[in-house]
Amino acid sequence: MRDVYTTDDLTNWQACCDEEGAPLKLAVLGFPITHSLSPVFQNAALTHLGRSERYVRVEAAPERLAETVSAMIAARFIGANVTIPHKQTALTLCDAAEPLAQRIGAVNTLQFRDGETLGFNTDAPAFARVVRDEFGVDLRDLRVLILGAGGGAGMAFAHQCASELCERLVLVNRSTQKAQALAKQLAPFFGGAKVDGPSARIAARQWAEQILREELETIDLIVNATPLGLRRTDPSPLPDSLISPHHLVFDSVYSKNRTPLTEAARRVGARSVDGLPLLVEQGALAFEIWFDAEAPRQVMREALRFIIAA
Ligand SMILES: NC(=O)c1ccc[n+]([C@@H]2O[C@H](COP(=O)([O-])OP(=O)(O)OC[C@H]3O[C@@H](n4cnc5c(N)ncnc54)[C@H](OP(=O)(O)O)[C@@H]3O)[C@@H](O)[C@H]2O)c1
Repeated sequence: MRDVYTTDDLTNWQACCDEEGAPLKLAVLGFPITHSLSPVFQNAALTHLGRSERYVRVEAAPERLAETVSAMIAARFIGANVTIPHKQTALTLCDAAEPLAQRIGAVNTLQFRDGETLGFNTDAPAFARVVRDEFGVDLRDLRVLILGAGGGAGMAFAHQCASELCERLVLVNRSTQKAQALAKQLAPFFGGAKVDGPSARIAARQWAEQILREELETIDLIVNATPLGLRRTDPSPLPDSLISPHHLVFDSVYSKNRTPLTEAARRVGARSVDGLPLLVEQGALAFEIWFDAEAPRQVMREALRFIIAA
């Protein structure tokens, strides 16, 4: 299978399917997209369930996203995943979107049904599920601090925390205004409670060591929703001195070995999880939207671990 297809390939999609000898009916759309591991575990799931459809990468430049989605509908795709930088724009291309995706303002999953494009955000519920599965606790019982709350993933996680009414939600972002705007948007979930201040259930705080130190004393779950850790040379988003053994640490980033943040958590004796279970879970939830059947999560996880270890 080719590593990447383009928007132009979609205009003669039958030839691409013939070349592969398979119906190419699902894709991940991004720009760039070569790094995406979604085809690895989605194709493992399709094979496991005896389905003939295949899942590919399609590189779509931002100015060609609408054209790409139209071409996928014409080529009778079942659906698609959407990743950086298309999640917000893709929402505007949907005929309908689930309420959560509308509130977040971004979709990561499209379903093409009866000529309509339906939008979903599976990052948010996947985050909640991974927290429950990995740490054995629900968001509603946690005081959560999100680093990178102004980005697509951070906003999705914050909306999930708010809709599950977590005990306290602290939003931190490099550019603080984005965290402040999000805190205002989410305040109604907490009964219109006061935004900010030490007793507020939702607060936007500046990314400064002393402020983080004070906040983290009473935080249960630390979430990294920044790309810090994607590159080998990246520092941990938090120094060891700010992490305590009582913290649960959730890193959206994944790598072959530990990420800088999960490594820092290990050093201080805190429990942690990297972004791999999230990657699988958001994909599994998308799979279930497309096929209305339970996704084989174990098969998906094993396929991913195998390729990452290789
Ligand atoms: N495992 C998974 O399945 C999964 C799913 C979704 C996302 N992710 C990961 O989550 C990360 C964020 O993705 P995204 O889609 O939310 O990206 P995004 O929309 O580009 O947002 C990036 C966020 O990180 C902040 N940021 C960027 N560089 C930073 C730095 N050097 N120091 C501090 N903050 C920085 C940005 O702050 P500003 O607003 O100040 O720019 C913004 O809040 C990526 O690493 C992505 O791989 C993983």
